[in-house]
This record gives sequence, C-alpha cells and structure tokens, in this order.
Amino acid sequence: MSAQGVPYNNKVVMQFAVATIVWGVVSMTVGVLIAAQLIWPALNFDTAWLTYGRLRPLHTNAAIFAFGGSALFATSYWVVQRTSGVPLFMPKLAAFTFWGWQAVIVLAAISLPAGITMGKEYAELEWPIAILIAVVWISYGVVFFGTIATRKIRHIYVANWFYAAFIITVAVLHIVNNAVIPVSLTESYPIYSGAVDAMVQWWYGHNAVGFFLTAGFLGMMYYFIPKQADRPIYSYRLSIVHFWALIAIYMWAGPHHLHYTALPDWAQSLGMVFSLMLLAPSWGGMINGIMTLSGAWYKLRTDPILKFMIVALSFYGMATFEGPMMSIKTVNALSHYTDWTIGHVHAGTLGWVGFISIGAMYFLIPRVFEAPRMYSIRAMDLHFWIATIGIVLYIAAMWIAGVMQGLMWRATNEDGTLTYTFVESLSATYPYYMVRLLGGILYLAGMFIMVWNVYKTWQVGAGRIEAPDEQGLPAPAAS
Ligand code: HEM
Ligand code: HEM
Repeated sequence: MSAQGVPYNNKVVMQFAVATIVWGVVSMTVGVLIAAQLIWPALNFDTAWLTYGRLRPLHTNAAIFAFGGSALFATSYWVVQRTSGVPLFMPKLAAFTFWGWQAVIVLAAISLPAGITMGKEYAELEWPIAILIAVVWISYGVVFFGTIATRKIRHIYVANWFYAAFIITVAVLHIVNNAVIPVSLTESYPIYSGAVDAMVQWWYGHNAVGFFLTAGFLGMMYYFIPKQADRPIYSYRLSIVHFWALIAIYMWAGPHHLHYTALPDWAQSLGMVFSLMLLAPSWGGMINGIMTLSGAWYKLRTDPILKFMIVALSFYGMATFEGPMMSIKTVNALSHYTDWTIGHVHAGTLGWVGFISIGAMYFLIPRVFEAPRMYSIRAMDLHFWIATIGIVLYIAAMWIAGVMQGLMWRATNEDGTLTYTFVESLSATYPYYMVRLLGGILYLAGMFIMVWNVYKTWQVGAGRIEAPDEQGLPAPAAS
C-alpha cells in the first residue's frame, strides 16, 4: 500500500528481487568456474555436463536472462505501478510471469549442461523452452501494457518508454530468431540457412544487447537515479531524443558481429556506420543520468546506492565508446576472436548491467521487506569497492590479453611464416587469465556480502532482529 492508498503489488516485485540475487550468485559462480577451467581444464572432472562448452552457455543464459531478466521484471513492475498510480493489471498473470520465468531458468539449467542446444549464441534453448519463453513474455507484455492502459496519471514517464521498447523488441527478436522446424523434443533446425541464418542470429544477438542489456536497464536508470538523488532528471527533452535515437539506430548495427564473413560487404559496412552513430545517443543517455546529480554530488560520499548507479553509468559510457571503435572493420580485424571482446562484454555486463541492478536491488529490498533501510550501509560500501576492484582487474586483464593475442596472431616473419604458434599465444595469456579469475572472485564475493545483508534486512523487516544503529542512508521515503 502506498502513501496515497494505492494497493501496489509488492509481492511479485519482492519475488523477482530475491530471484535476481539468487541467480546473480549462481550465474557468477559458474562464471568463476569457467574462468578457472580456462586455466586448469582438469576442473571439468572428466564429466560431460561439467565441460566448458556446456557450462559457458549456462553462464551466459543465467547471467543475462535469470539475473538480468529478474532484475528487469522486478524494477519494471515496481516502476510502472508508481508512475501510473495503479496496481499491476491482472495480478494472477503477473504471478504467472514469475513462476513461468523461473521454470524457463530451471529448464535451461537442466538442458544446457545436458548438451541440448540450438547452437545459436544467447538463443540456445530448444523449441519447447522457447515456446514457454514466448508465452511468459507475452503475458509480461499484457501485465505491463495493461497497467499503462489503466493508469491514473496521464503522462507516461520516460522510464516506461524504455521498458516498453524492451518488452516489444525482445518479443519480436525471440519469435523471429526461434523460427525452427522441430524434428524431436530436443532437436530442431532453423528455417533460415547460410548467411541469412547468420544475419538473423546477429540481428537478434546485437539487439539482445541493445534491448535486453541496455534499453530495459536505461528504464531503471531513468527512475532510480532521480529517486535516489532526490532530483529531477537533468533534461527531460534529452531523454526523449535519447529514446528515439537509440531505438532507431540499434536495429541496424548487428552486422558488426559478422565482419569479414560471407555476409555481403555492404551489409558489414552498414553495420559499422550505424554502430559509430550509436555513440551519440548512448553518451547522451549517460550524460543525462550523470548530470542528474548536479548540485547533489556530495551525496556520492555517503550513499552507496548512488555510487553503484553512477559507476554503472561510467561503465556504460566506457562500453559504448569501445563498442563503436571495435565495430570499425580494421579494428575488428584485430579484436575479433580475442579476449578484447570478452573485456568489452564484461565492462558492459559487470559494470553497467550488474551495478545498475545491484543499486536498484538495494533500493527495493528494504521497501519490499518493510525494513527502514538496508541492514548494513558499511557492507554495501564494502560490496561496492570490492566489486569495482573486481571489474577493473577483469577488464584490464582482458584488454591487455586481447590486444596481445591479436598482435601475436598477425605477426609474420620476413619469409611470410607466422612468428608465433597458437599455443605460444595461449601460454602468454595464462597470467591474464589468473588476474581475470581473481577479479571474478572479488565480484562474486561482493554478491555474497549482499546476500548476507539482504537476509539481515529481511530479519529486521520481519521483526526478528533490531536494525543496528549505523549512520548512513536516511529511511526510505514512502512511495
Ligand atoms: C563473477 C562474475 C563473472 C565471471 C567470472 C565471468 C566469466 C566469464 C567467462 C570466463 C566467460 C567466457 C570467456 C571466453 O569464452 O573466453 C564469460 C563469458 C560471458 N559472460 Fe561472464 N562472467 C561473470 C559475470 C557475467 C555477468 C554478470 C554477465 C551478464 C549480465 C556475463 C555475461 C557474459 C557473456 C554475454 C559472455 C559471452 C561473451 C562472448 O561470447 O563474447 N558475465 N564470462
Ligand atoms: C554503442 C554501443 C555498442 C556497440 C556499437 C558495440 C559493438 C560491439 C562490437 C563491435 C562487438 C564485437 C563483435 C565481434 O567482433 O564479434 C561487440 C561484442 C559484444 N558486445 Fe558490444 N557494443 C556496444 C555496447 C555494448 C554493451 C552496453 C554491452 C553489454 C551490456 C555489450 C555487449 C556485447 C556482447 C555480449 C558482445 C559479444 C557478442 C558475442 O557473443 O560475440 N555491448 N559489441
């Protein structure tokens, strides 16, 4: 129930918030395990379902769809109710989206280690699970747009525009890329073939980045940063330009994943040009978020939620500068196939997606558990620092390793033979893999601190223990 007497549905938000943290820990634990397997392959214990090739898609699916997806559900359900002034439309359908999404995650966690896969990156799940995803997603759309349609507040706040674009686009991407002909329960073939199949896959893949890993999280940024900073968004006009420019340009950038392939050359160049143009709206959005703090910078000293969110935006800016550079064909000739790409990915995922989600969860958890604030502000601060160091170690190691690999692979002797064998480049990479593993362990350790803090906050909310007398954040305002 809100201060205005609207009976908001907090239960489904709470469920998705808890799921975010649980799947965050699971996906990152698998991330740490595969990072270790790249150094010590024996860690697959000669067991088929523990092999790198099966655990890697488990990591990516769990991190993007279970951790990131649950954070998007939790926050969009929270935001759309507050900005519409009504409770969620069709609460039973909202509950179904929670249980349906968890069923998808469990089925993924069983089928991927079992080796059941479509073999398309980020779209590995076989057709029966893909159909369940479509059903849950359309239900999500009905709940979200139904809430907007029944709203009491005339204006549709910009965060909802971003969530709406994310929901619609992911539905279209998922359905088109999963058009397959099933041959059995666990096997199917795409209706597309050859270069067309690759084009559809990376149209999907890149827009999964643009809409699943970006647009939805921008929705989060546009609501939670102004709320937490207690300031209006820096420029509402810029947010509208940001929205339309971003969604218009993202759609065309996919071919940068297919440079120097059988894809027509003009399509590759088109992808490159649109990727370069993407820098402008991406940075416009980042600046809009960061400048929201103007006049309130001092809050960063004491408020770990704002720290998470502002650093998230800095990593967003970093990844969206690096991405356009990597899409330039001559740069991609060096970076593609190397760990540079992995560094870019984790600047975006650990820095942007991870930090904005963690910040939003620290905002939501005390509210959904009805506690005055998070149990320990110091633990939040510790989480922030340990995770930031973790990201820096991870991405710096991958940048150096990536550029080194690219240069070693292209080095030739005077007679035209290769200077280095592949194995030499691999052994030169091991020290960097160790640093990346350490970075991953630190980031994961931060998540465990969060789990402890969330558990204690729940205990305070349930009246089982007293909140400690700690200086820090003010009690959350009624919302
Ligand atoms: C403790 C944290 C994490 C660790 C240690 C970790 C580790 C790894 C490793 C070792 C790989 C495989 C790299 C390779 O094949 O060379 C990988 C790939 C990937 N991870 Fe993570 N990861 C973490 C967190 C995350 C999170 C939170 C996300 C998403 C929200 C994520 C998304 C991805 C993606 C998309 C890939 C595939 C990249 C590509 O194919 O280019 N990771 N991760
Ligand atoms: C302006 C924005 C961006 C552009 C133009 C861009 C561009 C690129 C390019 C050129 C690649 C390498 C493709 C290849 O060599 O195969 C790449 C890979 C990737 N990027 Fe970005 N990027 C952007 C932002 C982001 C953000 C914010 C994230 C995450 C939140 C992200 C996640 C990824 C992932 C997961 C991959 C690996 C795809 C794979 O599996 O091969 N990107 N990006």
